[in-house]
Amino acid sequence: SEIDEVRMSLLEWYDKVHDVRGMPWRKRYDPSLGGGGRAQRAYEVWISEIMLQQTQVATVIPYYNRWMAKFPTIAHLAGSDIETVNGLWKGLGYYSRAARLLKAAQKVVKELDGRLPDNAKDMQAKIPGVGRYSAGAICSIAYNECVPVLDGNVHRLLSRFLALYAPPKGKQTLDILWAGATAFVQNSSRPGDINQALIELGSTVCKVREPACSECAISSWCHAYKRTQGASSQNRTGR
Ligand code: ADE
Repeated sequence: SEIDEVRMSLLEWYDKVHDVRGMPWRKRYDPSLGGGGRAQRAYEVWISEIMLQQTQVATVIPYYNRWMAKFPTIAHLAGSDIETVNGLWKGLGYYSRAARLLKAAQKVVKELDGRLPDNAKDMQAKIPGVGRYSAGAICSIAYNECVPVLDGNVHRLLSRFLALYAPPKGKQTLDILWAGATAFVQNSSRPGDINQALIELGSTVCKVREPACSECAISSWCHAYKRTQGASSQNRTGR
């Protein structure tokens, strides 16, 4: 079906570019530091996604590495204090994110047996600071759960892909975009890679100004792109 073709092209592109910027959260952290298994992977992705919420990839990388050196597991984080956490966050901005990470880690250790929830629904319900976007990102990447993400980048990309010219924050718009994002990951064997591919395509190719459509892996199926093609062929024929 069409969505399968789109996903295949998207993943083919992602397989080429995913390691270019050396994002450490796309690798497994050293299991010898403890906390092994699925929940450990969720911890790593959780930290990276909260850092990436309002901050660019290149800025986040050294902060993420310092954080993981100091707090290799959620138990290490829970045993720390706000001064240490704020020290590691210094320069990243939006300090409430750091305080919420510490509080959430302490809650996980006290109330959840030291493990982050194993699905997106519980993640969003039980972890302070984790909304629908973060829960989708964490659980698709760490657990291969087929749940969607919709951040600013994916919002713009899908709006164009569907040629959806509607109030960006309207409830109907958001419902349509979440449904579109869901279609991308539904029954996929690689939902985490699909989501990261959408985020990355949105931020590096389907940019706010001057999207690089000639470099886009999914432009053949993009309704906004098809319209520009239609317009230029009309121009060429002088109509
Ligand atoms: N921005 C938010 N999440 C990201 C991820 N997993 N990879 C790259 N950029 C991101």
